[in-house]
Amino acid sequence: MSGWSHRHILDLASFSLEDYSSVLELAHRFRSMPVTGARKLPALQGRLVATLFFEPSTRTRSSFELAARRLSADVQSFTPASSSLSKGETLLDTARTYVAMGADVLVVRHSSTSVPEQLACALDRSGERTAVLNGGDGLHSHPSQGLLDLYTLAHHFDPDHPLPEALQDKRIVIVGDVLHSRVARSNLWALTACGADVVLCGPPSLVPQDFVAFVEAPPPGQAHDPVQHRGCVEVVRTLEEALPGADAVMTLRLQKERMHQHLLTDLNRFHRDYGLTHERLKLCGKPVPLLHPGPVNRGVELGGSLLDDHSISLVEEQVRNGIPIRMALLYLMAAVDSSPDPSLAAIG
Ligand code: NCD
Repeated sequence: MSGWSHRHILDLASFSLEDYSSVLELAHRFRSMPVTGARKLPALQGRLVATLFFEPSTRTRSSFELAARRLSADVQSFTPASSSLSKGETLLDTARTYVAMGADVLVVRHSSTSVPEQLACALDRSGERTAVLNGGDGLHSHPSQGLLDLYTLAHHFDPDHPLPEALQDKRIVIVGDVLHSRVARSNLWALTACGADVVLCGPPSLVPQDFVAFVEAPPPGQAHDPVQHRGCVEVVRTLEEALPGADAVMTLRLQKERMHQHLLTDLNRFHRDYGLTHERLKLCGKPVPLLHPGPVNRGVELGGSLLDDHSISLVEEQVRNGIPIRMALLYLMAAVDSSPDPSLAAIG
């Protein structure tokens, strides 16, 4: 953990294998501890975590807030509808209000790409020490979801050592609306970094062919890729091509609120071609787990009975793992400078 160098967490493209290991290791320690209301960890006592969600959220926001409370941080949540945004205040001024109240971490979600990054730059420029954690921006990035998906898969493949190595040479299939999914983009960086091969499956309107090159170059503004050898990315059009040999399958919601054109006319047809069912999953040739970041549209990207089948569905497990993963991120961002940290001994 001594090598942790990310002041802000905006995108997984800048994560090294050591970074993934640090987060997964710490999350596993948090997850293995019985935590009750009376047994909160003191690691973030006196720290303030503010959640600024300018877009709806059920899982991400609640789990960041729970994670912060389990580490004894104070939590302030911002709700756009009842805020001064409606009186014309800018987003930056809103964020600065929480900084002035002493926020150590701002968890920011916004429907526009790069809002968390712009906030982080503005705070850095003005010499603030507040760190920004991206809770999902536009189509771009959702690092905490990518990391909790990574942990869930690593734990499935190797429950005793849920570390990046558990993903080496696995074939992970992601089905559906990849184009509008920040979750898929974060998963592409995380999974390929850990040596998994990712197969993207969907129609050209939702899975453009150029996704095969997605992880081949670091994003603009980043000098180099911190990962030396990545797994491959493949794009296929049918489940019959994608599923044979899969080790895990992730499906995605059709994110209509992020579609600027009407890309799909017929939901029944999408379900027929790409909807996952018990029958369809037999194409994998062995029992494989199913993941979904939620929210799920039952009967569209998957048959409802699959979601309720806990021998296959890891969806609730993903939600559960979101808490220790977010505890790990908040810990690394806000408690790291108090090292050597007595509270770490408490979780050892
Ligand atoms: C995702 C998101 O917001 O990008 N949900 C989540 O955070 N669990 C996926 C989605 O909206 O479909």
